[in-house]
Amino acid sequence: MSPQMGYSRLQIILHWTIAVLILVQLTINSDMQQAFAQRLASDVLPESTGATFHAGIGIAVLVLAILRLAIRRFHGVPLPPKANHPLLNLLGHATHLLLYGFLFFMPISGAIAWFGGIEMAGVLHELGRFIFIPAILLHIGGAVVEELVLGNRVIRRMIRAK
Ligand code: HEM
Ligand code: HEM
Repeated sequence: MSPQMGYSRLQIILHWTIAVLILVQLTINSDMQQAFAQRLASDVLPESTGATFHAGIGIAVLVLAILRLAIRRFHGVPLPPKANHPLLNLLGHATHLLLYGFLFFMPISGAIAWFGGIEMAGVLHELGRFIFIPAILLHIGGAVVEELVLGNRVIRRMIRAK
């Protein structure tokens, strides 16, 4: 991966598409929770549009995350802002790693729970949000502070392609 002047248009589109899909997953999931309880009780996949929707969007996130990492590898990413304290850049990097991890962990644990009927995977999937949501909030807070307080233009570089 080589440093670039900025994110490409495709990287930006993928970032915001995935962000919207994650928001949907985190807020609309009650049908899937009900269907999963039935699935565990009866050991067959129940017919549920809401559950199919949740599974479909989640699998789309997984596919887009794979695509995003592949593009990251070939296109590269911009270096973190030089003016930042190294610890701030390290925190940003660690948060990105954690977010990427959850873009894989959430769909995979969900799919194992749903298709395999494995309750423990469902528990891990449920608990995942207690790390994923704070990581997303930290990420958003960090981006806003960098842009508005430190004047680093990081949000602008996730909007305008280079
Ligand atoms: C980015 C991907 C995903 C996110 C962020 C996500 C998020 C969530 C959330 C927040 C819940 C509700 C947890 C709760 O409040 O109890 C949930 C439930 C569930 N999701 Fe996902 N999900 C994703 C992908 C998937 C996929 C791909 C599948 C299956 C193919 C899936 C299957 C399930 C199941 C079975 C439950 C019910 C778990 C239970 O009640 O124990 N999820 N999901
Ligand atoms: C669920 C929602 C989100 C996820 C999973 C997510 C994930 C990520 C990841 C993994 C990166 C690193 C990109 C890379 O270097 O390959 C990134 C970058 C970025 N994200 Fe998000 N993001 C989300 C929402 C947001 C939101 C709402 C904002 C708006 C404030 C935002 C602002 C940014 C910015 C500005 C960068 C570029 C940081 C830089 O260039 O140093 N993200 N995001």
